Amino acid sequence: MSQYESEISRRRTFAIISHPDAGKTTLTEKFLLYGGAIAQAGVVKGKKNTRAATSDWMEIEKQRGISVTSSVMQFQYEGFCINILDTPGHQDFSEDTYRTLMAADSAVMVIDAAKGVEAQTRKLFQVCVLRDIPIFTFINKMDRDARDPFELCEEIEKELGIETYPVNWPIGCGKEFQGVYHREKQEIIHFSGGGGAKAATATAISPGDPNLDSLIGASLHSRLTDEIELLDGASCSFDLERVRHGKLSPVFFGSALTNFGVEPFLEDFLHMTTPPLPRHSSEGPIASDDDRFSAFVFKIQANMNKAHRDRISFLRVVSSRFDAEREVYHVQGGKKLRLSRPQQLMAAEREIISEAYAGDIIGVFDPGIFAIGDTVCTPGAKFTFDPIPTFAPEHFRRVRSVDTMKRKQFLKGMEQIAQEGAIQIFKTPYSGMEEVIVGVVGTLQFDVLEYRLKNEYNVDLYIEGLPYEYLRRIHTEDGAPVREDDLILGSDTRLVEDYKGNQLLLFGSQWAINWTQERNPKLTFSAFEGGNA
Ligand code: G4P
Repeated sequence: MSQYESEISRRRTFAIISHPDAGKTTLTEKFLLYGGAIAQAGVVKGKKNTRAATSDWMEIEKQRGISVTSSVMQFQYEGFCINILDTPGHQDFSEDTYRTLMAADSAVMVIDAAKGVEAQTRKLFQVCVLRDIPIFTFINKMDRDARDPFELCEEIEKELGIETYPVNWPIGCGKEFQGVYHREKQEIIHFSGGGGAKAATATAISPGDPNLDSLIGASLHSRLTDEIELLDGASCSFDLERVRHGKLSPVFFGSALTNFGVEPFLEDFLHMTTPPLPRHSSEGPIASDDDRFSAFVFKIQANMNKAHRDRISFLRVVSSRFDAEREVYHVQGGKKLRLSRPQQLMAAEREIISEAYAGDIIGVFDPGIFAIGDTVCTPGAKFTFDPIPTFAPEHFRRVRSVDTMKRKQFLKGMEQIAQEGAIQIFKTPYSGMEEVIVGVVGTLQFDVLEYRLKNEYNVDLYIEGLPYEYLRRIHTEDGAPVREDDLILGSDTRLVEDYKGNQLLLFGSQWAINWTQERNPKLTFSAFEGGNA
C-alpha cells in the first residue's frame, strides 16, 4: 500500500447526533482527550460559564445552551485519523444536520439512558435515514439511574425502525454501575477511577472468573448471567453489511462524564465503521482512491470570527489528495483557482494545512464564490457531485430593517445568511428590496437571524409573522413566467419569487393548494418532497 493509500484508509469521518443534553459534547471531548488533541477535560465544555464550549462558535449558542452550527474537529487515535462533525442538537436546525451528514460516512447517536429516544433524536434520526448511513448508538449516562437496557433497545427499534445489536451490555446502573460485558470478546470490563482522570481504569475479567462475585457482587453477577442468556437468545446476529447500510445499529453502553465505556466504544466503532466512502457524481460514483482530487462544499459560515469578518466554506475531500500548492477547478464557477488559506479545525483553533486526504474536511477562505453543493476538483476533470437538497420551509415571516438607512447592510446580511443555507429568502413582485420574506424549517432559525443581523451587521430587524405553511414552485406549460394577473389566487395564497427568479406560491393550508390547482389547471406545482428540493 502506498503512503497515499494508507493515509486514506486510516481516515474515519463521522457525525455525532443527539437530543440536546444527552451528552454529545461530553463524549466528543472524551474522544479528543483520548486522542491527545486536548490535554484536559473542560476545554470543549467546562462547567457552566467557566469556559465556553470551543465547538460553540456563536454567542447565541452560549446564551441559549444549544448548538446552532455544526463544527468540525480532527484528531489522531491509535493510527486512525478521525474527523468528527458535530451537529446542532435542536431539530429546528435539522437541515444543517442533513448537510453535515452529507460530509460524514457514519453517525454516532448519543442517547440519554434515563430518557431513551427523545423528540429531537427522532427528527434527527429521520434525517440520517434519508442518507442511509451507518448509525452507531451510544447509550450514555449509565452512571445515573437508567431505564432497563432491554427496554431502551426495544424503544430504539420500535421508534426509529432500525434493528439493534448490543455490542456490550451494562452491569448495573447509577451508583452500582460496574462496567460492561463485551459480548464478542466474552469479557467483563470492570471500571474504577474515572471522573476527571484521563481514562477510567478498566480490568478485563471473564464472566466465569471466581473472583467476579467479589468484584461486582453476587446479585449483579447472577443478573448479568441471566441477561446475557436472554440477549444471546433474543437479539439478531451481528452483520457488518447491514450495519454499513444503516439497517442495524450496534449499541454501546457507557458514561461519557465518568469515562466508563468511552474508549472501548471508540475502539470498536473505529473498526466497524468504514474508511472514506465514494460520493455520487455526474460521472457516477467517485471513490476515495480515484487519482483525481475532488471535494464538495457542504457548509458555509460567515463571521465565525467577528474580528476577521471572514467567510469560510467547508469542503469534504472525496478523492485523492489535496495539495495546497496546486490549482483546483471550481466546476460551477468554471474557473481555476487556488484554495485560499486552507485550514483544518480543532474546535475554534484553526491550523493552516498544506495537504489533506479523502475523508478530511477542510475550511477555505471564501470571498463569496462558493455555494453549498459546489464541486472542486483537479483541473481537467469536470464532474459535479449530486446537489445537496434543501428542506421545505414551514414557517414564513416578513422581515425588514427598522432603520431604512441600513438597507445595504440589511440586504448583505440577509443574502449572506441565505447563502449559508440557514434561511431561505423570497421577495414579492414589485415589493422592491425593502422587505424580504424569510422561510425556515424551525422557528429558532428566526432568532438566529435576528441575533446575527444585529451582531454581525448592526441591523435591527422588524419581523412580522405570516400565516403560510406551504411553499410550491410554479411550472408553466411553456416554461415562461406566469403573469400575476393571470393567476387566480385565494386570500391565503401569495405569489413570491426566490432570488434566482423562480416563481413560487405560499399557501396557508393544504386546502388552498387544491383550490388554487383547480382554478389554475394549466399550472403545475411542485413540492419539496421528502425534505428534498
Ligand atoms: P449535549 O452536547 O448533548 O447537549 O450534552 P452535554 O455533553 O453538554 O451534556 C449535558 C449535561 O449532561 C452536562 O451537564 C453534562 O455534564 C452531563 N453529562 C454528559 N454525559 C454524562 C454522563 O455520562 N453522566 C452524567 N451523570 N452526566 C453526563 P450540565 O450540568 O448540564 O452541564 P455542565 O455543568 O456539566 O456543563
